[in-house]
Amino acid sequence: MEKIALGICSSISIYKSCEIIRNFQKKKFQIQVIMTKNAAQLVSPLLFSALSGHKIFIDPFSDEFSEEISHVALAKEISLFLVAPATANMIGKFASGIADDFLSTFYMAVKCPVIIAPAMNESMYFHRQTQQNIKKLKSLGVKFIEPEKGYLACREEGWGRLAAPEKIVEEGLKLIDKSHSLRGKTILVSAGPTREFMDSVRFLTNRSSGKMGYELAEEAQRREADVILISGPTNIQPPRETKFREIQTAQEMEEEILKHFEKADIVIMAAAVSDFKFAEVSFQKIKKRESSGKVDLIRTQDVLDKISHKKGKKILVGFAAETENVIHNALKKLKEKNLDLIVANDVSVEGVGFESDFNQVSIIHPDGRMIKTGKKSKLEISKIILDEVEEIIGKSG
Ligand code: CTP
Repeated sequence: MEKIALGICSSISIYKSCEIIRNFQKKKFQIQVIMTKNAAQLVSPLLFSALSGHKIFIDPFSDEFSEEISHVALAKEISLFLVAPATANMIGKFASGIADDFLSTFYMAVKCPVIIAPAMNESMYFHRQTQQNIKKLKSLGVKFIEPEKGYLACREEGWGRLAAPEKIVEEGLKLIDKSHSLRGKTILVSAGPTREFMDSVRFLTNRSSGKMGYELAEEAQRREADVILISGPTNIQPPRETKFREIQTAQEMEEEILKHFEKADIVIMAAAVSDFKFAEVSFQKIKKRESSGKVDLIRTQDVLDKISHKKGKKILVGFAAETENVIHNALKKLKEKNLDLIVANDVSVEGVGFESDFNQVSIIHPDGRMIKTGKKSKLEISKIILDEVEEIIGKSG
């Protein structure tokens, strides 16, 4: 039986948590409830213990659980971590990494999808601090279920009512489904820049940081795909459990991609592979007095183009780094490289794309359908790209 952790904060809407537990139980999930101390003052933990059939976690230092570090043990067992109702205080703690009670410590330990359903007074909900905290958590991959408008505990009408339990449960189930939506698929992701050497100390490269490709690899892994990440030099730690290969040159990128191509169901070329390399490479450092200063560049192999000729049933996703005529050029690449999806990136826009944690892309299908993401974290963008890939998988059966 799959297990869900339900975090409960102190709010008048706490009674709706009972219905959330019941609805998940009907879908055959076990529920482990974690309460804040304030929530446990508002309603007796006995109620939730009776409903869920488990002891309730409140205090990380209670004697009862001292033989094991219970928040870490529990974090490994669950498919979903849901907080409903979530107060402004708890959202603030999660957003700033404060871990001073069981619930906030637990948030730091989980690897599964996280959903937060806020409930609070309208002014608190729309306070810029709360909105900033929500934005930050969204950028880290947390899903929010927006509160509804209605009669609030403060005897006012407004936004801030906890969403309906059925809606919360429905979103939770969707997210659990998503967490293994790529199970059984092998995804080959390329990331980062390449380096084309002129001599033993000098090379030609580009501004790619690798973040987009690494986020894609990590998100694909969260959806339980087998991920192979082939990356140029970056400063990023590769996701754990990913098969990881580091390369330097476009030629090495080509060799590694070809090595793993056969077993891949999906290939996502997020790497900024150099289009040029030096016609001659010196193994010794070139002395300035002995060089005319002129160099000849020749074209590298276009990896995506090469693999597109033996595509078969594989899904190929390319990126288009453009500084002008973004959509027109991306569509051209989509057709020429026989792709199933292209992610068009205007790399001239400040604050997104190269070296940034954010991106703003247009994702284009061969039938011309286009999704404009707006500015979002690269993690959020990676989710949208993989949702589109899953749609293609769904259509191709
Ligand atoms: N690509 C590749 N091998 C190369 C160059 C690019 O596989 N030698 C892939 C990139 O990983 C990306 C896509 O092709 O997914 C488009 O790359 P981009 O640099 O935007 O365009 P190019 O095809 O190189 O064309 P241009 O330089 O004219 O923009």
